[in-house]
Amino acid sequence: MVKVAPSILAADFANLQSEIEIVERAGADWIHIDVMDGHFVPNITMGALVVDAIRPHTKLPLDVHLMIENPDQYTESFVKAGADIITVHVETCKHLHRTLQHIRSLGCKPGVVLNPHTPIETIQHVLEDVHVVLFMTVNPGFGGQAFIPSVLQKVAALAKIKEEKGLQFDIEIDGGVNSETVKDCVAAGATVVVAGSAIYGATDKEAALKKIKGTN
Ligand code: DX5
Ligand code: ZN
Repeated sequence: MVKVAPSILAADFANLQSEIEIVERAGADWIHIDVMDGHFVPNITMGALVVDAIRPHTKLPLDVHLMIENPDQYTESFVKAGADIITVHVETCKHLHRTLQHIRSLGCKPGVVLNPHTPIETIQHVLEDVHVVLFMTVNPGFGGQAFIPSVLQKVAALAKIKEEKGLQFDIEIDGGVNSETVKDCVAAGATVVVAGSAIYGATDKEAALKKIKGTN
């Protein structure tokens, strides 16, 4: 069964505790936290303070997606705040292997993210060092954008390599996932899907999550 990571970017920020409790009760697997710096992406969202505020209110793994320049400068503060998984964009890392090792040395699970146009060849030599590979199926920066289906060719190619090498990392998809697009994600080899507006924009958030997860 595919794991679902609701993105709190689409939640009501004035009621984050209850917004997280709703998805946890509905069967969410991870909580996805979108950190944007206004430089790497054209939007500013939240930082380690928000991770710290959320931490006491859920047992679920906190999946922190860093859409920021100089991620090395901030990883330690996110780990201290309670991040379980930290993913960094390959496009922001001059020394990707070093960054991943650093995250692991802090006791956190490292992952790498690819923008829609970034080829999987850029990560082929770190596949044994990651807990998760995250594929963007929108251009990062905003929730509520349309799913880019051509990314699924990359997902399927990586899923094949993962199987051939007998590796265990998760394959996560982020952007435009809903109860329809999730089917193609799973068919291509996704093991985790992020969903923001499809869950938090729904009148019945629990039903929306269950429909994506297939537990309705
Ligand atoms: C986009 C973020 C996504 C976003 C997904 O830059 O990384 O996690 O919140 O939102 P939806 O599911 O609405 O596309
Ligand atoms: Zn994200």
